[in-house]
Amino acid sequence: MVMELSRLLILFISGLLSHVKIGTSIGINYGQIANNLPTPENVIPLVKSIGATRVKLYDADPKVLKAFANTGVEFTVSLGNEYLAKMRDPDCAKTWIKSNVQAYLPATKITCINVGNEVLTFNDTSLSGCLLPAMESVHTALVNLGLDKQVSVTTAHSLGVLGSSYPPSAGAFRKDLVDCITPILDFHVKTASPFLINAYPYFAYKGSPKQVSLDFVLFQPNQGIVDPASNLHYDNMLFAQIDAVYAALASLGYKKLLLHISETGWPSKGDEDEAGATPENAKKYNGNLIKLISSKKGTPMRPNCDLNIYVFALFNENLKPGPTSERNYGLFKPDGSPAYSLGISAVTAANTTVASPTPPALPDTSSGNDPDSGSGSTGYLSISSATKARYEFVGSVMLVLVFFLISLLL
Ligand SMILES: *[C@@H]1O[C@H](CO)[C@@H](O)[C@H](O)[C@H]1NC(C)=O
Ligand SMILES: *[C@@H]1O[C@H](CO)[C@@H](O)[C@H](O)[C@H]1NC(C)=O
Repeated sequence: MVMELSRLLILFISGLLSHVKIGTSIGINYGQIANNLPTPENVIPLVKSIGATRVKLYDADPKVLKAFANTGVEFTVSLGNEYLAKMRDPDCAKTWIKSNVQAYLPATKITCINVGNEVLTFNDTSLSGCLLPAMESVHTALVNLGLDKQVSVTTAHSLGVLGSSYPPSAGAFRKDLVDCITPILDFHVKTASPFLINAYPYFAYKGSPKQVSLDFVLFQPNQGIVDPASNLHYDNMLFAQIDAVYAALASLGYKKLLLHISETGWPSKGDEDEAGATPENAKKYNGNLIKLISSKKGTPMRPNCDLNIYVFALFNENLKPGPTSERNYGLFKPDGSPAYSLGISAVTAANTTVASPTPPALPDTSSGNDPDSGSGSTGYLSISSATKARYEFVGSVMLVLVFFLISLLL
């Protein structure tokens, strides 16, 4: 009897603990268009400090895949657009998978191959024509290697594949892309892989800062909007964008497809004409987003679907072309210090080990860093009062249980 009870209690206690641990599952994009990033070994604590359990690469960097062995972090590896034509050949795909995926399994948990990035919105019909054949041949190669149950195949689209996105219920794909997208959606159904979209409310704000409410795009308290057709209330633009994609999928008959947000983020710095690109706004966007993901609520149209979101990006990438904002999406500076304080805690970071040290700042090898954005020491691990309360609650419940258990045994 005593044994039974104590076993029950232990189960209960571990249940409580695992409840605390589950928290959330944040994904992060690990882009490396830079010449000043830390070694992959030094990136592991950074990834863990934000509670990211999933990492998306834009390639299949062997150094990263090796370094993250046995960390439990899940990986999406990518085939760049320049590979699409070649990968239509199943032998070529098989060779690539053997050396870039199979070689790291199972120590490195590669679960997805992303074939091409934003291919359809380049409007390059010959490139677009290669996309599905490449996805199919990569999947066939996985089947032949016996890996298709553990590794899925997908491709990331720009939100620009939508021809209309407002109101969300009127979301629809660009008419000229429907013929091309439909067989890709069939592929997702057939292989049970997710549909990926890159969604940036920042672009909408940058495009019309006078018309778009900053609070609405930054997940700050605001009145929000009501979709007149569905009567659903939206208090942030990202959810409106996601539901527009759900509506577009539903309108083609793909109501059940899994949708993941493969990129979203906010730059902490931009050019004169890039409204809103500040550390304060980036902190609000990414900090609020991560809290939202942790809350495990879905969007108004899909309230019961967990948000599956990859933040863009881990690092500021100094060699990215384009406007200044492009090089300033990182949560971290190249020296490993936070680009700004996210105001999230280690619990949001899905880890009960609160006392883990702030990741060590690495020597700053970059010359172009903004010297006075000195947020380096704030770190991600400061415990908010709410979080503390949660710990204290769980702590005292456990203490009571332990005393109870001891008194039973005596
Ligand atoms: C592709 O075509 C669409 C629709 O015709 C257009 O809105 C978009 O700007 C084009 N994109 C590029 C990169 O040319
Ligand atoms: C929690 O953090 C500790 C220390 O940083 C680390 O060793 C451990 O792997 C982390 N656990 C999870 C589930 O991320």
